[in-house]
Amino acid sequence: MSKRKDLANMGSVQAVRWQDDACLLLDQRRLPQQETYLRLEDSASVARAISDMVVRGAPAIGIAAAYGVALAVRETESGDRAGLQVRLDFLAAARPTASNLVWAIRRVSAATDPGERHRFDTALAEARAIHAEDIAMNLTMGELGAGLIDGPCSVVTHCNAGALATGGFGTALGVVRCAWASGRIQGVFAGETRPWQQGSRLTCWELARDEIPVTLLVDSAMAQMFRQQHPPWLIVGADRVTANGDVANKIGTYSLAVLARQHGGRVMVVAPTSTLDLSTPDGDSVPIEHRSGDEIWAISGQPSGINGVAVDNPVFDITPASCVDALVTEKGIVQAPDSKKISALLSGGR
Ligand code: MRU
Repeated sequence: MSKRKDLANMGSVQAVRWQDDACLLLDQRRLPQQETYLRLEDSASVARAISDMVVRGAPAIGIAAAYGVALAVRETESGDRAGLQVRLDFLAAARPTASNLVWAIRRVSAATDPGERHRFDTALAEARAIHAEDIAMNLTMGELGAGLIDGPCSVVTHCNAGALATGGFGTALGVVRCAWASGRIQGVFAGETRPWQQGSRLTCWELARDEIPVTLLVDSAMAQMFRQQHPPWLIVGADRVTANGDVANKIGTYSLAVLARQHGGRVMVVAPTSTLDLSTPDGDSVPIEHRSGDEIWAISGQPSGINGVAVDNPVFDITPASCVDALVTEKGIVQAPDSKKISALLSGGR
């Protein structure tokens, strides 16, 4: 068996930091070629960085937004309530699909009493707590999810649900890390994840840093890989899990889930309860982000497109709950999730 790194040394890259009174974001658009942090000193810059994909991945978006709220509070310390609301609305509109964004904004706002003298300190403390809790939840979910894997085997992941997409360690990649450290997995198949290439640029980079064997495939090669290799698990993160257990995640997740089940594999969704949204009844009600068609043209080397060609670029899809075998959260595992089991999980009645 190859030498395995210690769990404590894995997934240590930091997508988001608070340092010297500002929010620092690792510019993920430049990875893996360059590791540069952008220093953001105001809430509007944090909102723009989220829209522009400097930071991405539902939990990391939530953490960045939490620090953004702290900055908004600092900008309006004179008591400008209307100004604060404008800033919070701007942050909330940065990306529509990840439920962690609005969840984090509400949580930091609720912790901050408008009449309080040290509102900024309170907001910052709450943002830091969200950040620290996220890392702790990932470690818990990593162990829980790894326990479902009878190895050694190879698993499949999609997009990037790693340290880069969270406060640290990762959700789906947290499971991969724990499963690798305990010898349950031998390696990972990762799809490119067009058009932003989160799979090839980010997941492969993270796994290579941790010396976890990873094989990269173009997205359209996945069906053939499933047919030949029969990997037992597809392990992904989520941007939003709805009340009935439907899962919004990176475009292409649904196809992979169908493929996994067609070839005898199972589907594991790893997401903290901050990604579960009972106010969205089902997948049809999730606002799916559509980004510019230029992103698709750019990746095919045709930056300005071809006249007369319309482009549709939805960046998330819905995997129905009926295709999900296990939903792993920090509060426990929900097998074959449905509305009843999810509401029981959230109310602590399992
Ligand atoms: O567009 P992105 O890169 O923000 O999409 C990210 C994903 O789809 C992730 O799988 C999801 O946010 C879970 S991250 C732990």
